Amino acid sequence: MEQSPFPYQGPLKPGEVTGRDELRADLAERLMQRRVTALLGPRRYGKTSLLRRVTADLEQVGPEPIWIDFYGLTSMADVAAALDRGLASTRGPLRKVLDTVAGGISLRLGVVGVELSKSKRDRPEPVALLWTLLDVLVKTAERNDIIVVFDEFSGLANAKGATSILRTALQHHYRDMGIVFAGSDPSTMRLLFSDRAQPFFAQADLVEIGPLTDLEVLDIIRDGFEDTGRDPGGSAARIVSLADGHPQRAMQLADAVWQQTESGEVATDQAWETALGEVRATVDAGSERLHALLPTGHQKTLRVLAAGGSIYGTAADAVNLAPGTASAAIEALTGNGFLQNTADGTVIVDPLLADWLRRRFPL
Ligand SMILES: Nc1ncnc2c1ncn2[C@@H]1O[C@H](COP(=O)(O)OP(=O)(O)OP(=O)(O)O)[C@@H](O)[C@H]1O
Ligand SMILES: [Mg+2]
Repeated sequence: MEQSPFPYQGPLKPGEVTGRDELRADLAERLMQRRVTALLGPRRYGKTSLLRRVTADLEQVGPEPIWIDFYGLTSMADVAAALDRGLASTRGPLRKVLDTVAGGISLRLGVVGVELSKSKRDRPEPVALLWTLLDVLVKTAERNDIIVVFDEFSGLANAKGATSILRTALQHHYRDMGIVFAGSDPSTMRLLFSDRAQPFFAQADLVEIGPLTDLEVLDIIRDGFEDTGRDPGGSAARIVSLADGHPQRAMQLADAVWQQTESGEVATDQAWETALGEVRATVDAGSERLHALLPTGHQKTLRVLAAGGSIYGTAADAVNLAPGTASAAIEALTGNGFLQNTADGTVIVDPLLADWLRRRFPL
């Protein structure tokens, strides 16, 4: 079967990442200059994809990347295991250097998870193990030109004490390697990177990944259809409008229309309608569940924002939303990543959640 030019589940391969030229150049320069950087942005906005592209590009001219993924950690043992997995997933000559450095302190990379699952008596102490692994990283950086990507960095906040170990281990060595932290959880990320008690993290430059421009989305759609012998027709403008710059939603919608369009054909209105119906069918149940879990004030605030209204305007009056309730809801929903502040004011991050709210609760 022909492969869709619009993958939308998980990070893209470096070669699939287009657009965001300025941000890409900016990140590359920061990493080359060894400026510690934190890349912040909503879920599924393309942080991992972008960093894969940037590090792959840099690899052509020198520095080799090491990826550490801190997603879903709950303990110090998890942190050590995540660091070990990251180091062990490195390939090529750099892996040899890592193994040599680790071997020098009697550590074997890639088996930490197994070691930690042993009975309490035979199990290594996670904190000591974490220090050892960080030592391997630092010593490797002294020998090789490396970039370390700490992805899903907010996951570290759930392992008590882990951030300060990482800070202590890295703060005198940040000039020996490129370091970038990426994460989605806005309130945790802000806390980590502005906390005075964490001077190393606080000195990182915060860089935001914003929505794609309409033109970028349009180019992605056109190129994807053209490269596979198709024409998006009028669906392109509809995808751009509904996706509202959200990279993953744009790709998901484009994929659905593409699936409805035969090679050599132009996407029809019917293709768009069917595609939209299918995408909504996969998303609506999740929106419904999510909505049901929110306090009433949050629900009303989302409804007003989805309708494009002001939380102080007639739309807010219509749903009986008090200004104080709305402000508190906006703060909470921005903190957990449902809302974001843009040049257009506070908006719902996921355009398909907004779409569901408008259909479910017409104002
Ligand atoms: N530059 C881009 N061009 C086109 N689509 C993109 C781009 N970046 C991301 N996407 C789309 O967004 C999806 C998610 O990308 P990615 O996993 O990199 O985002 P993320 O911000 O790391 O997400 P998460 O918060 O889940 O870690 C991709 O599968 C792809 O469909
Ligand atoms: Mg990611």
